[in-house]
Amino acid sequence: PIALLACLLLAQAASVAKDEKARYDNHAVYKIKYHNPLQRQILLQLTKRRQEFSLWNESPSELHLMVSPNVIPEFEKYLSRANVTAEIFVANVQALIDTETVENTRAAESFGWTRYNTLAEIEAWLDEILAKYSDVTEEFIVGTSYEGRTIRGIKISYKTGNPGVFIESNIHAREWITSATATWFINELLSSEDELVRQLAESHDWYIVPVLNVDGFVYTHEKDRLWRKTRQPVSTSSCIGTDPNRNYDVHWMENGGASKDPCAEDYGGPNPLSEPEIKAMSEYIKSVKDKVNVLLAFHSYSQLLLSPYGHTDEEFPDNYDDLLQVAKAYADAVEALPYGSVFRYGSAASVLYTASGATNDYAYQQGIKIAYTVEMRDRGTFGFVLPPAFIIPNAEETLIGIIALLAECKKLG
Ligand code: ARG
Ligand code: ZN
Repeated sequence: PIALLACLLLAQAASVAKDEKARYDNHAVYKIKYHNPLQRQILLQLTKRRQEFSLWNESPSELHLMVSPNVIPEFEKYLSRANVTAEIFVANVQALIDTETVENTRAAESFGWTRYNTLAEIEAWLDEILAKYSDVTEEFIVGTSYEGRTIRGIKISYKTGNPGVFIESNIHAREWITSATATWFINELLSSEDELVRQLAESHDWYIVPVLNVDGFVYTHEKDRLWRKTRQPVSTSSCIGTDPNRNYDVHWMENGGASKDPCAEDYGGPNPLSEPEIKAMSEYIKSVKDKVNVLLAFHSYSQLLLSPYGHTDEEFPDNYDDLLQVAKAYADAVEALPYGSVFRYGSAASVLYTASGATNDYAYQQGIKIAYTVEMRDRGTFGFVLPPAFIIPNAEETLIGIIALLAECKKLG
């Protein structure tokens, strides 16, 4: 009878967990400056305890680690014993998510940039835009996600013969600021009366995929705000999802640039292109590569422009000087704005960490020689749960950055 009771309780717990949202009550996010590689290793080891620790961000000097309340005392003890410098930047992740939810449901408009929109809202808006600007826009279909959703893109073209710019956004599900920015950007290209923006819009062909990881994005709205990966199960594990930005067939899994552990946030997948979203995207990019000169992959957060390569910091692209120069133009233009946001730049592996199989490395390999990962706001105040009040400032600075970036490309000829 006791076993039966336990069974029932477990079954109940599982079913409750199934239709409830993931909660992050009193989960704190620490900014940790480590002083040596060993400390970094120890801290990264902690993220294997997935219930308790989750890596939000990583750079050569600091880690952002979300820690669940039951292990905070233990964790703080470790920090002081190891003499590591740490500060809490989010004291309660759930409070941040709750505030965001209130703001998302309060806004009266059906779609807009004062709040974050769902996939359904984004798609309905896209339909409107395609109808309203049918003379200069065209829908393209990238393919179908694991769960059967259509991955949609919009091409904007005012005349033939323009150089093409490709924007991939929201490959990582929780990085909501990226699709908010991409949709705002589409709207600006089509409706702005500013002369600089008109010039920008009409002198390029735009291929924009506002939400690539559609399944993951829906999951972040419905189940778990902090989901990153795809939603395809892994046959060898009970963990779900692959890091789509490690799944392209470009130096896949090289130099430890992705994890082999299906439970890890940066799991590279069982094979390159195992994820239907990435297989479709890689074919789509290939099909337009001759018409595209620049690819930008939108991510958050940490304010960086990352060029190839991601898989090694011992080699650099042939045009690395150009890539630095063009990234500098973006960073300088953004920094000159009243917001004063600072962007750093360089190759992904040298500025950040080795990460193989990413979109911009694939684009580069396919001959799109100007290809960046754009890490948007912020730098660890709100992290992934950037309040909607920052959507427009972030989008404005992205626009200014892109104008400067493309102007610099033009100089290169
Ligand atoms: N934060 C991004 C990620 O982890 C960085 C990707 C950098 N780009 C690259 N080519 N590795 O996916
Ligand atoms: Zn990302």
